[in-house]
Amino acid sequence: MSRISFQVNDRKISAPEGMSLLGACLNADIHIPHLCYMEGMTEPPASCRLCFVEIEGRREPVTACTLPVRSDLKVRTDTPAVRRLQRTALRLLLSVHHVDCKHCIANYKCELQRTARFLGIGLKPKHLDHYSKEPEVDDTHPHLIHRPNRCVLCGRCIHICESRHGRAYIAMARRGFDTVLTFYGSTDAIDLPAPDCTACIDVCPVGALESKHGE
Ligand code: FES
Repeated sequence: MSRISFQVNDRKISAPEGMSLLGACLNADIHIPHLCYMEGMTEPPASCRLCFVEIEGRREPVTACTLPVRSDLKVRTDTPAVRRLQRTALRLLLSVHHVDCKHCIANYKCELQRTARFLGIGLKPKHLDHYSKEPEVDDTHPHLIHRPNRCVLCGRCIHICESRHGRAYIAMARRGFDTVLTFYGSTDAIDLPAPDCTACIDVCPVGALESKHGE
């Protein structure tokens, strides 16, 4: 595949034609906050709304994970409008996130912590209404523990499950604020991936999924 060059923040970078702008920037060490994108995704869900950038000639910021690179792109990743949108997206995520880092398996490697640090927002912003989901812990799965109040609904676990096993044993259920992960086949352990498959746990950005069988 041929490579093309384009401009990001006064730098010229190059990437294979058709690659997402987010992937190209990350490869060039230009950090853009993101939670739902993963390398190799052909159709990113664009659910976290963190990866906004400005493109010269476009009136509204766009999500970098859904924009394929082109040679005429002139991109800014750090304008006030971009940061405002990213901070709003992060606050929305934090309003439904149970911040309890000390007791979370993802502490110190959590991508939500890293994103908050990058955007200069505390994990418990003042004046932010907080909402919780019930149940706090879903342990109906034979191998996994799921904590809906940590989950950012990024969909990475679904993506990796499908690419490893040819079908996803995880899906989103319900709508809006009530959206949660649900596990197909959790009542029929024979049909599930082996307990030692930790792919979904490994790609979770926040520690919402844990193995019942230890590390
Ligand atoms: Fe683009 Fe989540 S990484 S919307």
